[in-house]
Order: sequence, then C-alpha cells, then structure tokens
Amino acid sequence: MPLDIDFVRSQFPAFSEPSLQGQAFFENAGGSYTCQPVIDRLTRFYSQRKVQPYAPYEASALGGAEMDEARLRLAAMMGVETDELSFGPSTSQNVYVLAQAFRKFVNPGEAIIVTNQDHEANTGPWRRLADEGIEIREWMIDPQTGHLDPADLEKLLDDKVRLVCFPHCSNVVGEINPVTEITALAHAAGAFVCVDGVSYAPHGLPNVGELGPDIYLFSAYKTYGPHQGLMVVRKALADLLPNQAHYFNGGVGYKRFTPAGPDHAQVAACAGMADYIEMLCDHHGGPSQDDTARAAFVHDLMRAQEVKLLQPLLDMLRERNDVRLIGPDKAELRAPTVAIQLNRPAEPVAAKLAELGIMAGGGDFYAVRALKALGADPDAGVLRVSFTHYTSEDEMKALIAALEAVL
Ligand SMILES: Cc1ncc(COP(=O)(O)O)c(C=O)c1O
Repeated sequence: MPLDIDFVRSQFPAFSEPSLQGQAFFENAGGSYTCQPVIDRLTRFYSQRKVQPYAPYEASALGGAEMDEARLRLAAMMGVETDELSFGPSTSQNVYVLAQAFRKFVNPGEAIIVTNQDHEANTGPWRRLADEGIEIREWMIDPQTGHLDPADLEKLLDDKVRLVCFPHCSNVVGEINPVTEITALAHAAGAFVCVDGVSYAPHGLPNVGELGPDIYLFSAYKTYGPHQGLMVVRKALADLLPNQAHYFNGGVGYKRFTPAGPDHAQVAACAGMADYIEMLCDHHGGPSQDDTARAAFVHDLMRAQEVKLLQPLLDMLRERNDVRLIGPDKAELRAPTVAIQLNRPAEPVAAKLAELGIMAGGGDFYAVRALKALGADPDAGVLRVSFTHYTSEDEMKALIAALEAVL
C-alpha cells in the first residue's frame, strides 16, 4: 500500500491552518511542520503537568513517566538501549558537549577525522580539539559532485585515529552516505564513529543499532517534533568518555552528556513522534509487533513516496544548463533536500518563489565548508528546496512551475 497522503496530511495542523493556505512548504530541512500527536502531548504537558517531574504527586509522576516514555519508545524504534538515548537542546549543542568529553579522552598526537561535507555542527567542535594537540584529518568531498568516497577515508585511517565524524546525509549535497560501510572501515582501524543524522532522520527513523555507529544525532524539530536534539551514544563508548553532567549523575547513561537540565515538556512531547510513526504503521497495515520492524516499515513507506516525488524535480534541474544541481540526480541515492547553485545570489530568488507561494530558502545553511569545496560562493549561497513524505504531488508540480518561472 502506498503512503496515504490524505491521512498523513490530516495529522499535521499546518495543512489546514488558514494563514498557510496557498503556500507550499519547501524548507523542511530547516525545520519540519509538527505532527498532531506532538502538539497534543506538548499542550497536555503545559496545561496538566507543568511541575517538576518525578515527584510523588500525580501531575509530577505523570510528567516524568511521559519523559521516560519518549526515551523508551524512540530508543526501541532505533534499535538501541533506552539509556543510550538522551535529549539535549539541539544537535549543535549535543556535539559541543561530546567534543568536551573527547577533549579529555583523546591524547595529543592522536587523530580525529572530520569531513568538509558536514553542517558546521558536526565538524567545527571537533576541529577545535586541534588546540589540545589532537591531529585533525579532513576527509574531503569530490569538488564536482560533493561525493564522499570511502576509499579516501581508508587512506586517512591508521592506528592514531580515535574518531571518525561524518553526516548520514549532508544538508546541501543530499547524498546518503553508506553508514554501515564507513563504520566498518573506522571500527576495523580501531576508531569510534559519530554520525550526524539530522538531514536523514526526517525521511525515516534509522535503525541505529543495525547501522552500527557509536554516536548518532538528529534534531526532533526537523522530524515532526519539538525543538530538541536526540543523541544516541552506545554504552561501550559512553562508559569510556568522561562524565559531562553533575558528578552524581555520571552513573546514569542518558544524563552523562546532557549537562543542562532537560526541557521537560519538549522531551515528553517527543513521544508524539513515536505515536505518529506507530499511527502510520497501523494505518498502512504494517507489522503489529517489534518496534524496529514497525519503524523500518514506516521508514520504507516514507522513502518510497519521497523518491517517487523527487525524481521529476531532479530531471527538470538536470536538463537546465543555467543552474547546477548539487549532489546526485538519482532520487534513490539522496534525501529530498536539493541545493541549487545559481549564477546570482540565492536569497532574492527564494523571495521570488515566496511571491509564487513556495516557501524555500537561500543561503549557506551552515554548510560553508561544503559550499566552498564545491566552488560555490557561500555569500551568494545556494537555493535549497527540501520536502518530506507529507508533501503532495500538487505541491511538487507547483514547485517545478515556480522554479521554471524564476530560474
Ligand atoms: C545536517 C545538519 N546537522 C546539524 C544541524 C544542527 O542542528 P541543530 O539546529 O539541532 O543544532 C543542522 C541544522 O540545520 C543540519 O542541517
């Protein structure tokens, strides 16, 4: 059964919001619409449970239980232990904290590999460890295609490397990197692996346990949820890294790398992402048991829909010789996050699209290193159109027509 787009859209209040009518949303990689179950949980928390959680009175106990539920259910869907998943304010901040932990874990003279394909969140904090005498090696993209070649990584790996950081998918190149293959290479060389999944997770929650990295991060506010960063740190690594939380919380896996107090309501509301995935699974006749199987079913449903809608856009862009499509032109190789290099600054073009009812963005999207490596001027930026499974065929047609008018 293909994705029931009417059912999907009925779960997102934005699609029936009067002030958003007549506008098609194509800046999902910046932040997605929020699904109804998340909004319901957030509203319930703020109206019924907005007290310090985990105390022995009802409102508090219920609030705490909802926070635990979010961690339990999402961890189960991602194939990891409940204590291996934690919530922080954002992915950028989660990486920052992890980099502080690695500052004391990696010795001067040892090495960390970063890419120039990443959003700055998963590269800048690691590069700063050079100040401690840690060697930073750069795994570089192909300047024409933006592709990260695992063969190039192999040349950088040796027994000095402690960590390899890369994106599951870049927010400007869009190509899906082979996480399992790259992780196997890094692990064989004795290095840990940190994957930025922010641009991937909105297109289907990954089975992190199966993919194999030691760290996997993504942002709930781009995945139909509230403004939170989700971070998986597998126990074997977490136990080695120095605690970054209050000293008495160091023994609790999900607290070790979240020094700030959690945003109770938003953590609780993250369970709404699990509600939504389960709802999609049940509605489309997916498996009734096994959380990872249920999430995988919905992942495949979303991907199939997105691949189908993406290909005509890529075909149209590939045909034009006045713009440069960044990343692969085959939909199954990439996320529907499509950056287009123009021969002029991108933001005014995004503004023209807005006049035609298309919400999109222009700029560097904090992927400054990737744009520079591709020979694109970060100041002029790129036009980026990004969508998810809830985007309709009519919206895609409207996008293509609008692009043809403004490009
Ligand atoms: C690929 C990627 N990684 C990381 C981030 C940073 O996420 P956050 O805003 O949660 O810090 C973004 C945000 O746009 C992103 O697109």
